[in-house]
Amino acid sequence: MKHYVAVEDHTQKELQELIDLSMQMKQGSKTVSLKGKTLVSMFFNPSTRTKTSFDLAMEQLGGHNICLEPGSSSWGIEMEEGAVMDGDKEEHLKDATKVLCKYGDAIAVRCFPPFMDWEHEKTDPIMKSMVNWSNNPIINMETITHPCQALAMMQTLQEKMGSVKGKKLLLTWAYHPKPLNTAVANSAGVIASMFGMDVTVANPVGYDLDPYYTDIMKKNCEAAGATFEQSHDQDEAAEEADIVYAKSWGSIQQYGAFQKDVHDSNKDWIVDSSLMEKTNDALFSHCLPVRRNMIVSDEVIDSESSLVYEEAENRLHVQKAILAKLMGGV
Ligand code: CP
Repeated sequence: MKHYVAVEDHTQKELQELIDLSMQMKQGSKTVSLKGKTLVSMFFNPSTRTKTSFDLAMEQLGGHNICLEPGSSSWGIEMEEGAVMDGDKEEHLKDATKVLCKYGDAIAVRCFPPFMDWEHEKTDPIMKSMVNWSNNPIINMETITHPCQALAMMQTLQEKMGSVKGKKLLLTWAYHPKPLNTAVANSAGVIASMFGMDVTVANPVGYDLDPYYTDIMKKNCEAAGATFEQSHDQDEAAEEADIVYAKSWGSIQQYGAFQKDVHDSNKDWIVDSSLMEKTNDALFSHCLPVRRNMIVSDEVIDSESSLVYEEAENRLHVQKAILAKLMGGV
């Protein structure tokens, strides 16, 4: 494994090995030292969990993390290749990547798409460029996918359910006042399909995920003998669900032209007790941060069925496993 950029770049076996290593490190039965190793983490967007857990992961492994915030505490970065840099950005991504490789042993990046041109942004240009220009491993901390979150979700489900094969995951859109990234949903659906879960994606009309990702989910489910469904009816989709995974995302059809009135007509998409009653006594999870009583009711997120804090904790452990694989020669 040279980089960790998207779950679909890896086999199910490789991902399971990362989860197994993460569980061993969590239980203390395996230790890895990254003494003398440095991670450079670049945050183009805010973070609570990712920033804290990567910092702590490097510290617990005996290494060091340097956190940069381009455009704030470090120079603003131009992403476009061939750009005439007459704007407000002082440094090109190519130069920043090549320099940071001289200092650190791996680079981790969070850079949300700017919601301007999905056809371009869906190619994940920043990840592709950095992988191209870097001599060192690149880790995706959320661009158009969120592979660290997906791995933490899968570890948490395995801890609770044992094998997830044949269990039904409902990935449901939920209302948030702003159009959010599709990254978590893309990666959650793909990893569930890779592990043989029955996957149902439910969202309002006009909010379908990019077919690139739903086609991967469908293909993986078919290969595993599992079902894949897309639904515009949240109540119907919840039937027989074993896990309800909630996330809000922006409409690809409204990309660059957000229609607030259309978006707000979907306020009834919430995970509450009445939805959970339709399921197979399902577990609930979400990547966090979450808007309470908009995406999920207090009653559900604070219930015994909620895995949100366990999943957030597992971000630390899966990232230690990823760092150990990429930098520790494990
Ligand atoms: N889930 C997640 O990535 O959280 P942060 O945005 O706080 O890092």
